[in-house]
Amino acid sequence: MEIIIVADAQQMSEMAAGIIRDQILVKPDCVLGLATGSTPEATYKRLVRHHTEDGLDFSQVTTFNLDEYLGLPPTHEQSYHTFMQDRLFNHVNVDPTRVHVPKGMSADPEAFASWYEDEIEASGGIDLQLLGIGGDGHIGFNEPGSSLSSRTRVKTLTKQTIEDNARLFFGEGQEHLVPRFSITMGVATILDAQRILLLAAGAQKAPICQKFIEGPVTSMVTASALQLHPAVTVILDEAAASKLEHRGYYKWVQEQKKEEYPAALRRIAQAL
Ligand code: F6R
Repeated sequence: MEIIIVADAQQMSEMAAGIIRDQILVKPDCVLGLATGSTPEATYKRLVRHHTEDGLDFSQVTTFNLDEYLGLPPTHEQSYHTFMQDRLFNHVNVDPTRVHVPKGMSADPEAFASWYEDEIEASGGIDLQLLGIGGDGHIGFNEPGSSLSSRTRVKTLTKQTIEDNARLFFGEGQEHLVPRFSITMGVATILDAQRILLLAAGAQKAPICQKFIEGPVTSMVTASALQLHPAVTVILDEAAASKLEHRGYYKWVQEQKKEEYPAALRRIAQAL
């Protein structure tokens, strides 16, 4: 895993938007996996700016969102569908027929889940998957105990996730209004992406970031499965990185990367 530590959430979002922009520039018909939640909001804002100010073209981009609450219609103001429309899709030239958000109101969610998997495959697979991380280590809504080989399916949310989301989206004390089930890409679905970009900011994410980056791979912290993927970039702000034991090393690695390999090898050769 490549661990990049930046000063604050603003720098994290700028860097993330830059990586997504570069992906679209390199492959205009790329497939993006997208996340909701508070973490990627500023990244989407910057992507909108890349579109309006620099002409970043989304017309051939296909998107697949990670998850949706079960039982919420797409028009519900707390649905992830509405979140994506408000934060990104309404403000860029993405083709609506290329946008995929799991259906919260599907009559047969399991059949829908398997259709979603087929659609991802038919699109050629996800080139770049954007992720946040829950306080319990979930990616998508793969709560602790989710199989690391899980695919898109219905998942029951933990009480912690329900409380976290109540505060963020429904207001303090509104836990009873938060749906208890979600439809989410599985851990293995996420691991199938060519490249993965996970963002985390704020001191409240520090303990779980230490666990998923430096702890054992375990289904009790599903983000730890990212250790098995060959192309994961994690961008953390200083607060989220504050509990990492090897923080100094990750920063050192980033410093070394500033010098191109050929230049580094020349410098060593000259010194020998
Ligand atoms: C959202 C998602 C979740 C969030 C996670 C963190 O689509 O899949 O895994 O990324 O719950 O949420 P925030 O960013 O609100 O802390």
